[in-house]
Amino acid sequence: MTMIKRLGFVGWRGMVGSVLLARMREEGDLEHVEELVLYSTSQAGQPGPELPNTRPLLADAIDLDSLSTMDAIISCQGGDYTQKIHAPLRDMGWQGYWLDAASTLRMSDNSTIILDPLNQSIIRQNLAKGQRDFIGGNCTVSLMLMALHGLFKENLVEWITAMTYQAISGGGAQQMRELLIQMGEIHEHVTPLLRLQESSILDIDSRVNEYLNSSALTTGAIGSPLANNLLPWIDIDLDNGIGREEWKGYAETNKILGRENNPIPIESTCVRVGTFRCHSQAFTIALSQDVGIDDLADIMGQANQWVKVIPNNKQDTLQSLTPAAVSGSMDIAVGRIRKTVFNSRIMTVFTVGDQLLWGAAEPLRRMLGILSEYQTDGDS
Ligand code: HSE
Repeated sequence: MTMIKRLGFVGWRGMVGSVLLARMREEGDLEHVEELVLYSTSQAGQPGPELPNTRPLLADAIDLDSLSTMDAIISCQGGDYTQKIHAPLRDMGWQGYWLDAASTLRMSDNSTIILDPLNQSIIRQNLAKGQRDFIGGNCTVSLMLMALHGLFKENLVEWITAMTYQAISGGGAQQMRELLIQMGEIHEHVTPLLRLQESSILDIDSRVNEYLNSSALTTGAIGSPLANNLLPWIDIDLDNGIGREEWKGYAETNKILGRENNPIPIESTCVRVGTFRCHSQAFTIALSQDVGIDDLADIMGQANQWVKVIPNNKQDTLQSLTPAAVSGSMDIAVGRIRKTVFNSRIMTVFTVGDQLLWGAAEPLRRMLGILSEYQTDGDS
């Protein structure tokens, strides 16, 4: 495999960036890079971590001249950085590959949303056309597509509704910290009553609820109480009754699958819950054909190496189809597969996946591998 000669990495210290760097090290990806240059917005010139093939000093993340010497740049710095740097860099004539996980460039005609287990052929076609912006999809969308890969492969999906249960990691590290702070504050608020064996649970409940609705609870990062609560709106209000997270479910899915001209109808209600880093989703799916339940489980389980089908019974479900069971692993757990009372072509599925791995870091890491091979093949 030839190498990407110079790879720039921005935002490697943040949450997604750290997960990505750890995965790159785990998989030996840095062996395929001649030089990794770690960029920083605040510590340029200072020594960076000791990593294989890595320039010892941190470079300046807003130095366009330095960035423009990279063959590829991976950014986990967030949408504002992409907004600020990408266009000026292209305006300078920079022809390298830009990889990020922000929503800024995802729907641009000049970008590909990357999820190679599903759209490797689209990625390669667009590379051959000279496209240079390759952007990770929304986490909920990527996790849904990985879970339902087999159904899409067999062209079995007529429409989908997704009810999501999204972890707070989707809101960033500060929000994760705040969720735990909220849990602690609530607990502390009622600790004396909890300790009293004879206290009334209804009394505890009303104190908790009063506290949740007071200004005493810390909500600076999340904006609302999430502990002991849930938030049925994620991302901005599009002023048509739909949140942008819900819109992404339809728009990004169809772009990833190359179905912009023949879109699959997808409706979502996106809900933030108090879990840490696994997004869960309950789907109702109309199938284009009546396929038996065992065949459906096989189709889903064999689609890619990461889907793990969990038998639809209470014990296996509670043991293996939960954020606690899946967190930190590459598994896409898929279960509760059953037909509904509506008719035998309408099924349900529940899935859980790690929002920081397949939902964010992994598609970027794999794109780097595709780029390395692509350059070896002489741009074939
Ligand atoms: N928008 C997602 C969420 C995060 O808030 O959970 C990453 O795509």
